[in-house]
Amino acid sequence: MRLRVTTDQPWDVPADVLVIPIVGEPAFDGPLGEIDRRASGELKALEAFGELRTKRFTSSIAASGGVRAGRLLTVSAGPAGDVDRELVVRIGSAALHRLAGRHAASVAVWLEPLSAALGGDPVAVAGLIARGVVEGTFDPKTLYKDDVPTAPPAIDELVLVAPAAANVAALTAAAERGVIMGEGTNLTRSLANRSANDISPEVLAEEAYTLARKHGLWIDVLGPEKATELGMGMFMAVGKGSDNPPRMIVMRSGKKGELDASGRHLAIIGKGVCFDSGGISIKPADRMEEMKMDKTGACTVIAAIATVARLAPGTPLLAVAPAVENMPGPHSSRPGDLVKALNGKWVDIINTDAEGRLILGDAMTYAERLGATHLVDVATLTGAVSRALGDLVTGAFGTDQAWTDAVLGAGVRAGERYWQLPLVDEYVIEMESWYGDVTNTGGSEGSLVKSGLFLREFATTPWVHLDIAGTAYYRKAKPWAPRGATGASHATLVELALAGAAPAA
Ligand code: BES
Ligand code: MN
Ligand code: ZN
Repeated sequence: MRLRVTTDQPWDVPADVLVIPIVGEPAFDGPLGEIDRRASGELKALEAFGELRTKRFTSSIAASGGVRAGRLLTVSAGPAGDVDRELVVRIGSAALHRLAGRHAASVAVWLEPLSAALGGDPVAVAGLIARGVVEGTFDPKTLYKDDVPTAPPAIDELVLVAPAAANVAALTAAAERGVIMGEGTNLTRSLANRSANDISPEVLAEEAYTLARKHGLWIDVLGPEKATELGMGMFMAVGKGSDNPPRMIVMRSGKKGELDASGRHLAIIGKGVCFDSGGISIKPADRMEEMKMDKTGACTVIAAIATVARLAPGTPLLAVAPAVENMPGPHSSRPGDLVKALNGKWVDIINTDAEGRLILGDAMTYAERLGATHLVDVATLTGAVSRALGDLVTGAFGTDQAWTDAVLGAGVRAGERYWQLPLVDEYVIEMESWYGDVTNTGGSEGSLVKSGLFLREFATTPWVHLDIAGTAYYRKAKPWAPRGATGASHATLVELALAGAAPAA
């Protein structure tokens, strides 16, 4: 896709479609009025007809008359006061979704209305819109099939129509980064959407190898022998239950233990359960097919380190992705099994379906051994988080408030929503094990908090846990995204790592 930034008037920009964001009520007394006049009053006519509405994500397509673009596409953003970074990304994506099945090879987006609503920051809007447009081209149906007539157009040119006074070089740079960010989201999604018969832990590791070679990252993949030898008892307790052997995927940019510009060595750790049947504590059949998505955290960290390598090569960053299949069988762990974690704690497996925390705990210990000073894990960890927060807000836990604030701040820059939940110390007693040190589940009350408390047992440095079980995939399409993997938290992890990138010379 070619990218072009122009300060020409929106009506002078040649493209198949001109995207017109409508913020609040359409104001026909400014440039929107000029677009409408040149389009022979089409927009006002649509408004009068009731088709151009102000409700967020409603859209309309109009003939363009004397405007140079072939068609006008309005996409409503709702009230100006509610426009934030997340919404700007989604407006870009929603525009592409509205064009699904249409012949639009070049798309121009008029940035002014969004820039004004976002506090007059056209550079930020350029980056967010570029990312949103790229994310909007993603269609999971094209993963297995070539001919999908309903897919959004694979556009070959994006033109960003900037305010006259804008700094074109700065906007272009931001938009180029936005494109790379969006490609990373889509990489996360295309890995996560793949089915379990297609992407085993071994295949996920091969994908990681391919990306590492492509982007010059160091990579090491541990198989069952090495993991057992090191003492990763929790990781192996889950991994040994499947014929598809487990893989501990470790990727790095920069040097081992090297501190970044913020004085940290960040590790991003992602849950990679390629299929979660529940194991011996088997899940009910209803919606079990969704459990192919249980590897999304791993896909996210693998894609995020690749994105960081593209945007700021050499930035110190470690990615650890424990990949397993959680299956019932003669080699599976049983409820009541005691296993020794890599950090030496004895863990009492009460429920084999609480497997994510087992593999993550050992991955966290391993990340610290490899020199990480700050940890963030991302995992489809609990059904409880989606009951609490739904599919639009990721749950966050953290041991160190300054570090938690740093992660949540990256989330704001990325335009992704988080809600911090408490690690309630008193509940720890409900996870005491009779035989060992800790149980992997502790009753259904507060089970979301307890999932965080369990993971905390394996962090000795500042650590944040992001539970994306609700946000990792949509069960139904949204105006800005198809059903399936969303790529949630990829952008946050990239923003977080980039905070430690060496300042540009
Ligand atoms: N992978 C699931 C969590 C999940 C549920 C993700 C629904 C996405 C949608 C996780 O491994 C799991 O099974 N969690 C259990 C924990 C329980 C056994 C304490 C859960 O949430 O029920
Ligand atoms: Mn499970
Ligand atoms: Zn799981």
